[in-house]
Formats: sequence, structure tokens, C-alpha cells
Amino acid sequence: MEVRVQNIHKEFGRFPALDDVSLDIRSGELIALLGPSGSGKTTLLRLVAGLETPTDGTIYFGDEDASRKTVQQRNIGFVFQHYALFRHMTVLDNISFGLKIRPASRRPTSTDIKRRAMELIDLVQLSGLEKRYPAQLSGGQRQRVALARAMAVEPNVLLLDEPFGALDAQVRKELRRWLREIHDRTGHTTIFVTHDQEEALELADRVVVMSKGKIEQVGTPDEIYDTPVSPFVFGFIGQSNILSVRVESGQLWIEDRSIGVSAAGEPDGPAQLYFRPHDIELLEDCGGCIAGIVTASRRVAGTRHVELDIGATQGKVEIELPPEKTATDRSRIAFRPTRWKLFRS
Ligand SMILES: Nc1ncnc2c1ncn2[C@@H]1O[C@H](COP(=O)(O)OP(=O)(O)OP(=O)(O)O)[C@@H](O)[C@H]1O
Ligand SMILES: [Mg+2]
Repeated sequence: MEVRVQNIHKEFGRFPALDDVSLDIRSGELIALLGPSGSGKTTLLRLVAGLETPTDGTIYFGDEDASRKTVQQRNIGFVFQHYALFRHMTVLDNISFGLKIRPASRRPTSTDIKRRAMELIDLVQLSGLEKRYPAQLSGGQRQRVALARAMAVEPNVLLLDEPFGALDAQVRKELRRWLREIHDRTGHTTIFVTHDQEEALELADRVVVMSKGKIEQVGTPDEIYDTPVSPFVFGFIGQSNILSVRVESGQLWIEDRSIGVSAAGEPDGPAQLYFRPHDIELLEDCGGCIAGIVTASRRVAGTRHVELDIGATQGKVEIELPPEKTATDRSRIAFRPTRWKLFRS
């Protein structure tokens, strides 16, 4: 089901939790809402579910205005941020619940409900555990039950609010891959909330970056990482360095030194230069470059992270070098950003 969020405002008292948010989600898409705590991710999800009403704006499911429909009418599958299964129900009963409570006219027969629940147990790889109670499952297994339960009602839209938030890194990674596979098999339109950028970039077809109740950028993981449209997105996704520079005659300058980067077409004036630690080239002799003194160096998996002090006014930058490249303390390194972006205040 296609979902269109149009000019949504949501205020709690006078606090604007969402400020003119619009978003088109295609049928079958896996969308990640990514942003810091308090940016409005859960609020947006709850509005789509019908658990909150917008102060202003409309939400469409397909061509229909869903804004005035109840949660039941919207037929949503929801896994909440701090979700608990029904403790007194077995895995099978937890998963069947959503179908069992349907009004008689829309309720499948009990044989069909059981068949559907057993198919889902198989899909989430919990076969053999259907008679267990939640207390007898691991955290990852519980989350899989919660997901199966959300899918049991054949939802128009599947909403997942940090479903793996409480789990350790390794289990999270496994479940993440597994969720992508399930999504590709079932094709449910899915909105997934996370504040873990790696999770969003790895899992989603498109990522929605949110900050302070607004959408900063919507794009594929590549677009978000490679062409961030704002300083916020650049800083929030991946590692970044920020330097105060000046554009003059198509060149970038730090104080009275050119840094050897051509900025043809950029208007003159002060700007902030953003670049990622790995988007640099080392230089032997420095006609125009950024140079600094090594203050720290550490090996992180396949690369060496080197911290450079580039002077009193600019402070420190971090660059990434191949691991075989040594960076002794207090030695001097010269480099030039190869991929960068300018923002002006
Ligand atoms: N029921 C409510 N009453 C008052 N304020 C609320 C309510 N729900 C949310 N807010 C406020 O709205 C803002 C957005 O909250 P929301 O829960 O959507 O953030 P979030 O992005 O999901 O954050 P987190 O990553 O911490 O879960 C926050 O400042 C929050 O305090
Ligand atoms: Mg939240």
C-alpha cells in the first residue's frame, strides 16, 4: 500500500513535535526514519498508525484519506519501541492474537488462524518454539515473535519502532539482514525507525533523515551518504571534519594559505568546508595543502585513523590512512580533501 504524508503538523501543547512534514512512500518500499532522540520519528509513526491525530495535514493510504480512520480500519502491523509480548500467552497465541480479536465477520476460522500463525512461525524461524512463553525466549527470539505478530494481520503497512534497539550488536546485525530478507519475500510496505545510521543505510530502500520535527533529506542510502544536502545530514551520517575556509578567486583558503582545492564557480566569501576522513590524498611537498602534526593514531579494522592538529584557529581533524602507512607521533602530514562540500551560514 502506498502511503502519502502531506503537510503534517503535530503539536503537543504548544510544542511542535512535527513541523510541516511531507513524505511519499511507495508500495512495497522499506523506508528508514533516521534521526537523533526527540526528532519526531515515533510521533510520525504513531500518526501513520492512527495512534495520534495530526494538528494539521493529511495522511493517505493509496487514494483514500486515512486521517479519520481508526487504528483497526487502517490495518497496521506495529512493533513498538519498548515492546512487550503478552507474558501469559504462548508464542502461537501471541502471533494469533490480532486475528482472533477481529469481529466475527472478518475473522478467519480457527483452523485458518492456526495455519497462518504456523506459517509465520516458520517464516521467522521459530519452528518448535510455538508452545513457549515469552520468558522462555531470548531477546532476539522475542523480537521475531513481535514481528510475526505484526505481520499476522496482513497489514497494509508495517511500522517498526526501533525493533532491535535493546539487543546486542551481533544479534542486531543478524536480525537486520533477516528483516531485509523477510521484507523482500513478503513485500509489505514498511516504515522502520532507528537512530543507528549504519542500520538505516544497510537496510533501507530510502532513508528519511529527521531533525527537530522536520525532514532534512530523503534519499537512497548512496544519495544520503554521498550528497548530503545540509550540514546536519553531513555531520549526522558518517564521520566528518569541518573547517572554516574562505573562497577567493575559485580557490579555497585557510587564512592566508591556499589549501590546493579548486572551487570554481563558488562565490567569494567565508564558508564551512566539510569532508570525510577517507576522502583525502596525502601530499609529499605542500604547495597548497592542509598540514598538521600527528597527535594520535589508532588502527581501526582495515584503516588507520590519524588525528592531526592543524593549528590554533582550526583545531583537530581526523583522516584515514591505509594501515601500512605509519604516522608517528608529532610527525607532519600534508593532505588535500578530494571530495568535499561547502556550506555557508
Ligand atoms: N505525548 C507527548 N506529550 C508531549 N510531548 C511529546 C509527546 N510525545 C512526544 N513528545 C515530544 O515530541 C518530540 C518528538 O518525540 P518522538 O518520540 O517522536 O521522538 P523520537 O525521534 O522518536 O525520539 P527517540 O529516538 O528518543 O525515540 C520530543 O521532544 C518529545 O518530548
Ligand atoms: Mg522514538
